[in-house]
Amino acid sequence: MTGQVRGVQLARLLGQWHALPGRRRSPDYAALAGSVRGLLADGRLPLGVRLPSERELAEALRISRTTVTAAYRQLRETGHLASRRGAGSWTMLPGNHRVASTGLWTPLDDRDMLDLGVAALAAPPQLLSAARAATEDLPRYLSGAGYHPTGIIELREAVAEAYTARGLPTSADQIMVTSGTQHALDLVLRLALAPGGSVLVESPTYPNALAALAGRRARISTHGLAADTGWEPDLLLGSLRQTRPKLAYLIPEFQNPTGHLMPAPLRERVVAAAHAVGTDLIIDESFVDLSMDGTEPLPPVATYDRHSRVISIGGMSKPYWGGLRIGWVRASAPQVQRLAAVRVGVDMASPVLDQLVAVHLLADAEAIVADRRVQLAVQRDALLGALAHRLPEWRVTVPRGGVTLWAELDGPVSSALARAAEEVGVRLAPGPRFGLDGTLERFLRLPFTLPAADLVEAVGRIAAIRYDLDRGGRQRWREPAVIA
Ligand SMILES: Cc1ncc(COP(=O)(O)O)c(C=O)c1O
Repeated sequence: MTGQVRGVQLARLLGQWHALPGRRRSPDYAALAGSVRGLLADGRLPLGVRLPSERELAEALRISRTTVTAAYRQLRETGHLASRRGAGSWTMLPGNHRVASTGLWTPLDDRDMLDLGVAALAAPPQLLSAARAATEDLPRYLSGAGYHPTGIIELREAVAEAYTARGLPTSADQIMVTSGTQHALDLVLRLALAPGGSVLVESPTYPNALAALAGRRARISTHGLAADTGWEPDLLLGSLRQTRPKLAYLIPEFQNPTGHLMPAPLRERVVAAAHAVGTDLIIDESFVDLSMDGTEPLPPVATYDRHSRVISIGGMSKPYWGGLRIGWVRASAPQVQRLAAVRVGVDMASPVLDQLVAVHLLADAEAIVADRRVQLAVQRDALLGALAHRLPEWRVTVPRGGVTLWAELDGPVSSALARAAEEVGVRLAPGPRFGLDGTLERFLRLPFTLPAADLVEAVGRIAAIRYDLDRGGRQRWREPAVIA
């Protein structure tokens, strides 16, 4: 489905496979097979890709071909590899297992639930005054029909100014206002991707983006992010060059769920590689404002774009409030016109009053966003502290922005934990929601958008059921497992 992994690429992904903790005295071939299974379970190695030939991998790993042959044989026996003589070997999961990670992800409104499934803050106090001021402005619009498919001019100007202030000169005719970032993504996909088109995404990635792609019946390939360092430049660029997707959907600004920030040199290289192979980039900047620890902003990906390859999307939901339903697209002016033509077949225009509220909030952006950053840093640290205290075996990379931690658990128990957590009043989004094919069971996304006391309480409850899962013997979790 997604092409081929070369020997050197697999060797890089395997890293220190021969010296993994807990290996004890297992033979080399078993350790190699176990590491490949681990990569598959973590979504770092996609399903349906062709592995290098035994000879090529043996050369890349500097080990004997017999060891690779035996490892591949074991992977075939455990159902992780399908081989056809003369054609090669493809990755798979036992029983050809596939789990749709896409689909509806809508938390119910349950006030007693500590909801860690949603990564968004409650509204800032300034929202009410912005709403009142917006009603004062409304009369200026009431004499018109109220349909503005690309958005009211005041808001488009405010959004364009914010891009310009980030070092990316932008005019209002390059902005289209949408009903949230998700709507922006859907519209861009309608414009830029024919049904069944190919798309590269990060793994893990934002589940509702996968749902939007499923809606276009996209053929999805993945670039697996390393838990600690994020994008692996050579592998990402290699995937672009090899699979030549029509689109790539990336979240370089405090990626959801991992919180990683894509370094500036890689931004430049990704744009150049995308241009070279004819791939359009959808750059989701939902979290760009929410840096912490004094992390300096990096140049927007679109600053490296000379050929209208980059379409940026973003919105008000993360720094301000999800209930506003205001997002936007930044593209070339002709692309914005085409998007508006697509849009009128969907929802005509965004509500004028909500756009006016957004204008007032953006006018106060500096103060509001500064408060949000402080609030998020406090909550993040409370969550980290609670995890270190109650679940010290879990590993986390401290994000320098965004609203989520991507925790590496002490076993592939994410779905089981989420099921058990519901019973103790905690809603969790388990790792597999953020990937394809039921992988990522060893990971859990933990947002720090609830008040600190709620986060500490939630971690206490999660820790209690985590140990119950072991004691009850309900789960076998020492081996990589697949959710059913
Ligand atoms: C990366 C990403 N994109 C888009 C969205 C959707 O945002 P909106 O509420 O603006 O539609 C989210 C919300 O969680 C997100 O994390």
